[in-house]
Amino acid sequence: MTGLINKRIILGISGGIAAYKSAFLARLLVKAGAKVNVVMTQGAQAFIQPLTFQALTGHPVHTHLLNPEAEAGMGHIELARWAELIIIAPTTADLMARLATGHAGDLLTTLCLASKAPVHLAPAMNQAMWQHPATQRNAQLLTELGYTLIPPAEGEQACGDVGAGRLPEPETLFSWIDSFFKSSFFKNSFVESNQPEPAKKLGEGLRITITAGPTQEPLDPVRYLSNHSSGKMGYALAAAAVEQGATVKLISGPVNLAIPDGVHCTHITTAAQMLEACEKLRSTTDVFIACAAVADYRAEAVADQKMKKQANQDELILKLVKNPDILATMAQATVDTHKPRPFCVGFAAETQQVEDYAQDKLVRKNLDAIVANDVSDSSIGFGSDENRVILFTRAGECIHRDPLPQSSKGVLGQQLLFKLLVFYKEQQKS
Ligand code: C5P
Repeated sequence: MTGLINKRIILGISGGIAAYKSAFLARLLVKAGAKVNVVMTQGAQAFIQPLTFQALTGHPVHTHLLNPEAEAGMGHIELARWAELIIIAPTTADLMARLATGHAGDLLTTLCLASKAPVHLAPAMNQAMWQHPATQRNAQLLTELGYTLIPPAEGEQACGDVGAGRLPEPETLFSWIDSFFKSSFFKNSFVESNQPEPAKKLGEGLRITITAGPTQEPLDPVRYLSNHSSGKMGYALAAAAVEQGATVKLISGPVNLAIPDGVHCTHITTAAQMLEACEKLRSTTDVFIACAAVADYRAEAVADQKMKKQANQDELILKLVKNPDILATMAQATVDTHKPRPFCVGFAAETQQVEDYAQDKLVRKNLDAIVANDVSDSSIGFGSDENRVILFTRAGECIHRDPLPQSSKGVLGQQLLFKLLVFYKEQQKS
C-alpha cells in the first residue's frame, strides 16, 4: 500500500530530454491516488506537450506566471500553498543555478520561493555538466537552502556519455516520494490538515551522535599512528543532520575543518577517548553514525620521552594492541529498557571486495545500516571532496542495497542522512 492517497503534489518539469520519464511518474502518482498539478518551464514544453500531462493528471498544466486566465483559476500563490510536496524532475543545471540564486522569473521558480512545502529536486543532465564545479557548488548551496536533492542515476546517457546525471527511473522517483510521505515525521505535520503549515523536519526531536576524522595513537610525546581521514564526510553528515532539525553531537578526531553551525563537538585524539565520549552519550543517542577512521591498533606502551634513534639498531619493532571497536560496542544489544541501543550506522572504507566486506560488517557488528566506499579510487574517499557510496540497510535478515552516485560530500551527506532517517522512522514504526 502506498501512502499517497489525496497527497497534493506539484510535479515540476524543466527542459531536459528526461522530461518524458515524468509522464510515467505522473501516471504512477495519479494511479496511487495523489492529486498532481504539473508545472512546466518553457524548455520542458520543447520536449513534451503539456496536453500529455493534462490527460494523465486530469488537471490543466501550469506554464505561465503572468497569465490572467490561469491566475483567475488557481493563482500561483494559491498553488504554492496547496502543495504538500514539490518535486522537480528533471531539474536542469540551469534551473539549479536559478533556484540557488533565488530567481523568480518564471512560474516554477516563483512557486519554489513562495511555497512552504518541501522541494525535492531530481537533477538530470550530461555527466560533465553534473560534475562541473559550478553545478556541484549550486547543489551544495541548494542543500544549504533546504532543498532536497535526489541523487542522479549512473549509466549511459541520451548524449552517448556514460556517468552520473541520468534521471532515476520513474519507479525510483515514485518510491522516493512514497517513502517521504510514509515517514511518520510528515504525517504529524500538515498532511491531515487543510491549512498547510511548514513540514516538520525529518530529524526534529532526534539526538544524533556522529564520529568523524582519524584517531591518533601516540607512540611517544612527539609521534603517533594515524591515517588520512579528513573528517569531511562526518562533518557533512553533521551539517545535514542540523539542517534536518536534529540535536547533533560530533565526536571528532584532529581535523582541519570548521565545526558546522549548531553542532556540539567533543574533540578527542585517541580511540580510547572516542569510546569514552561515545559511551557517555549512548543512552541519550537515538541515531549513532560512526564515520571516524578509528585506528585498529595502538602502541601497547607509550614512551614517556621521545624515542631516540639507536646508532646500532636498523630495525625497530613496535608492539601494538587492538583498540576497542567503538561502533560494535554502541551497537550491542541491550537488555536494559532504560538504556536502549541506538540505531547504528557504520562506514566501510575498503580497497577491495568493498560490498562483501561491508555486508559482513553490517551483520557482524549488529548494525542497522552501513555505507560502503572504495578508498582505492583516489577521486573519492579519504581526503577527497567527493565520494561515491553504496548504502546497505538491514531489517532482520533482509539487506537492501542502494548505490548513490558520485557527488560532493556535502550533497552526499544530505542524501545519506535523508535516506537513513527515512529508514530509521520506518524501523521505529514496525
Ligand atoms: O572494522 P572496520 O574498522 O573496518 O569498521 C569500520 C566502521 O567501524 C566505521 O564505521 C568505523 O567508524 C567503526 N569503527 C569503530 N571503532 C573501531 C574501528 C572501527 O567505531 N575501533
